[in-house]
Amino acid sequence: MKAVTCTAPVNIAVIKYWGKRDTDLILPTNSSISVTLSQDILHSKTTISTSPEFSQDRLWLNGIEEDITKNKRMHNCFRETRAIRKEMEEKAELAGSPIEKLSTYPVHVCSENNFPTAAGLASSASGLAALVYTLSQLYELTISTSELSRIARQGSGSACRSLFGGFVAWEMGQKKDGSDSLAVQIAPETHWPELEALICVVSDAKKGTSSTAGMQSTIKTSPLMNERINHVVPARMEQMTKAILDKDFQSFAELTMRDSNQFHAVCLDTYPPIFYLNDTSRAIMQLIHEYNATSQDGKLKAAYTYDAGPNAVIYAPKENMAEIIQLIGHYFPSNKESTAFFADPYQVVNGTLGQDFIPKTNVNFNQNIIPVQPVNSVSRLLHTKVDDGPRVLDAEESLLKADGLPKR
Ligand code: DP6
Repeated sequence: MKAVTCTAPVNIAVIKYWGKRDTDLILPTNSSISVTLSQDILHSKTTISTSPEFSQDRLWLNGIEEDITKNKRMHNCFRETRAIRKEMEEKAELAGSPIEKLSTYPVHVCSENNFPTAAGLASSASGLAALVYTLSQLYELTISTSELSRIARQGSGSACRSLFGGFVAWEMGQKKDGSDSLAVQIAPETHWPELEALICVVSDAKKGTSSTAGMQSTIKTSPLMNERINHVVPARMEQMTKAILDKDFQSFAELTMRDSNQFHAVCLDTYPPIFYLNDTSRAIMQLIHEYNATSQDGKLKAAYTYDAGPNAVIYAPKENMAEIIQLIGHYFPSNKESTAFFADPYQVVNGTLGQDFIPKTNVNFNQNIIPVQPVNSVSRLLHTKVDDGPRVLDAEESLLKADGLPKR
């Protein structure tokens, strides 16, 4: 039996992917850009083992066995990676130095997230990226990360961006077969170390409309979507790439907020409309705009973005993070034990959250912009940073036992 264990990160888009021109191949109607967040805080972990002794492909997700035959997207990833392995096996055989015919054996896949699935925290992105990356390691594929991203894309669109660390573009491509629709790294995680992220978990509940169904409904019914696809996103792709390369937080922040807002605007323009934001999400948006108004030099201090769910992700330079955490802690109080609400992994906040929110003393800050929200409107704060792509773990980290069954 051969087994490999890897983790893959979550990515949060700053130019959003929304809409497919081909739903089978998962080809998008616009390019997108994301930032890869640290696996130390959020990740999907996957072990894959393969053996001629196994009778069929099997899958365990977060401890529960799933019917893999119904999972078409996962099958696409198996089919594509096995085909490349098979080619390698045939070549090796011809060259007179055969390698093990792993492509003919069934696989056992065991995967878990260290965060709630389908809560808008991009679990499909990290999950499918972990699957495809682990398969590539298991089969010792010698293809580039961008080529691998083409396979991950067929598992879940946003997954292709989780194969790289740092700042990543998914180029939509033009070809019908999708061969030019892949992820490329704009800059590595070391490029802009000052940039950090704060995830405000607004709801752990499973979301109402899946992004897969929601985006096709938008494509079919939203007139605003044409403007977004044809004009707005192409211009923003260039502007955002430049902002990242120049480490220009002012442009990065404005584009990020505007693009999140337009994504939720096309959701509202969908008929019947789709709502992902709730009152707590909107209160966080107002607070961030008010916080930005306190800036001495007119420069933005933070930017929010929201995916297909109510959770806020706030991007900000490291130097503002303590202030932002205090601010959120004040307006969104928690009655949980402090570390359950905010674990403070980077030790930026000393003492009690929310008592010492700095803009209190700033005349430009309107303290009444929003009332203090009901307790636990925000259930958790996760402070994270820009970090690397998938990691291969040691054998002792395996989720599967020597017999190929889950450890727990
Ligand atoms: C709002 O990648 O989950 O998070 O391709 O159907 O699996 P499928 O959709 P998915 O969509 C993510 C949409 C988004 C924006 C983004 O991540 O760019």
